[in-house]
Amino acid sequence: MTDDTQTQVPTCEDLAGRPEEYREAIGKLVISHAVNELYGAQVFDEPAIALAPTPYAKWLTCRVAMEEYGHHVRFKELGEQMGIAAERMTPSEKKPLSIFEFDLESWAQFCVIKLLADLAEILQVEDLLHCTFHPLRNLARMTMPEERFHAQFGEDFCTELCQTEEGRRDVQAAIDIYYPILPAFFGRSKSRNNDIFRKWGIKQRTNDEMRIDYVNRARVLVEGKLGLKLPELEITVN
Ligand SMILES: [Fe+2]
Ligand SMILES: [Fe+2]
Repeated sequence: MTDDTQTQVPTCEDLAGRPEEYREAIGKLVISHAVNELYGAQVFDEPAIALAPTPYAKWLTCRVAMEEYGHHVRFKELGEQMGIAAERMTPSEKKPLSIFEFDLESWAQFCVIKLLADLAEILQVEDLLHCTFHPLRNLARMTMPEERFHAQFGEDFCTELCQTEEGRRDVQAAIDIYYPILPAFFGRSKSRNNDIFRKWGIKQRTNDEMRIDYVNRARVLVEGKLGLKLPELEITVN
């Protein structure tokens, strides 16, 4: 029997010839991205426009919000091409991720969210860049420059805030409350979904590999670049 787990799937139509486990796994990922891009734009990016302190910051925040809504639109379109009902790709149907369970109250908090949560998103999108399902791979390649822009936005505005003592305190306080939520974003150490994603060449890395990489990259940003402290968390890996 030949191993067809790494078969490339060039179009949505070609999904029909793939096993149910593969189609379901792709569907889960597309639904999750569609839901979470929308929810994040609603609870973080759009409200942040009002928090932005200057016309320049508002302009860039509008761009970030526009792009996050755009990511939802593109993932939802892909889902529809795959035959997923539009209602299944809304936050009322599927619970958004826990990284959004945070009451955004300040500009500094938003800048930290872009710095740290969009870094986490970059890792997730990187993992899809070589996905065997090409429409998803192509979407990852298309959204990647925008996610990088969001993380850079976070880094630039955090750097600017850190020029004053008060700003440094605000950024550190936001990191202290927001960062601890993030490592769990990568999923459980032993995850059946992740096993299936890797088996079919949809994703490349285990949740723990991504989590460790994330913590290291977050440390470079927070401690190396901003000169602040990354909270020590107990990260258990199996
Ligand atoms: Fe996004
Ligand atoms: Fe983003």
